[in-house]
Amino acid sequence: MRTLVIGGAGYVGSTLSRQLWEDGHDVTVLDLMAFGGESLMSLYGNPRFRIARGDIRDPAALDDIVAGHDAVLLLAAIVGEPACNRDPETAVATNLGGARNVLAACRRAGVPRLVFASTCSNYGAADGGAAVTEEAPLQPISTYSETKVAFEGEVLAAAAEGFHPTVLRLSTAFGVSARMRFDLLVSDFTLAAKRDGKIVIFGEQFWRPFVHVRDIARACTLVAGADPALVSGEVFNVGGDSNNTRKIELGEMVQRQVAGTELELVQRDTDPRSYRVDFTKIRERLGFEPEWSIGDGIRELCEALDAGVWPDPGDARYKN
Ligand SMILES: NC(=O)c1ccc[n+]([C@@H]2O[C@H](COP(=O)([O-])OP(=O)(O)OC[C@H]3O[C@@H](n4cnc5c(N)ncnc54)[C@H](O)[C@@H]3O)[C@@H](O)[C@H]2O)c1
Repeated sequence: MRTLVIGGAGYVGSTLSRQLWEDGHDVTVLDLMAFGGESLMSLYGNPRFRIARGDIRDPAALDDIVAGHDAVLLLAAIVGEPACNRDPETAVATNLGGARNVLAACRRAGVPRLVFASTCSNYGAADGGAAVTEEAPLQPISTYSETKVAFEGEVLAAAAEGFHPTVLRLSTAFGVSARMRFDLLVSDFTLAAKRDGKIVIFGEQFWRPFVHVRDIARACTLVAGADPALVSGEVFNVGGDSNNTRKIELGEMVQRQVAGTELELVQRDTDPRSYRVDFTKIRERLGFEPEWSIGDGIRELCEALDAGVWPDPGDARYKN
């Protein structure tokens, strides 16, 4: 398969591009290189790998590169609430305007499959304890999730004979990737425990689903190659039921692996997102189950931190 990963140099994208390549895809990456492209170094010089710099906000940048691909995976975005809140105009222009450009370019070029990386954040404050399925009402409570929800609707509405869009609502990622992020909850807590001996937790009772970045890569690869009858016009939550946890329990998991860690609980109303997510659909329809538990991911990260993989893990380039 000839597969284009847009945003393929990022935290998820670099791991996904490598996974696709290992699975035998011809991989093209298009990325603005907001964090550089060193994350793809292991693929350079390979005849089945091509890389280009481009901005999805510019429709003219897309036609040539999109043409000839069997699948496009759209990951490029301004990712996360803090990054979107810092510059909402750029966030909307990228996550909605740029995504629309990608959809239009795929339609013009006759690319048959488009996989859109969305987020379980779209469920917002879905409290009440029950895990939410893909049918649950969406409650976007930030610019980030508003843009994701808006494009989900547009891309699904474009499903047609010969055009198969799929929306993947990813859990919050954890795990080591070639473009590392330490602003995601599991890595943030683990780094704080190792460096400061203390984790500060806001909204400790709030639920979140988590998934290892390599499991996301497996899920995206599975969907890109799946029978279109199973995935066309469909939404899948990506994760596993046992990787739903409250923030306090996440803190305790880190505490068990980093001896002596103190947990400090802080009351704050600014991030009321709480959602437990149901992953029955991806398990039953596609046979997808994560291989990595949260505990495995904490262990992996502790080993990498102990080994000195990042000379300065607190550096701003590891945060969005
Ligand atoms: N990491 C998570 O926990 C998580 C959870 C849910 C959903 N997602 C989704 O997965 C995708 C990837 O997230 P990530 O964690 O890898 O983020 P990331 O910030 O590491 O990667 C985003 C990539 O998009 C590129 N990009 C940004 N603007 C662009 C533009 N205008 N044109 C071309 N490329 C552009 C950046 O250069 C970067 O390489 C995003 O769509 C995100 O919403 C991520």
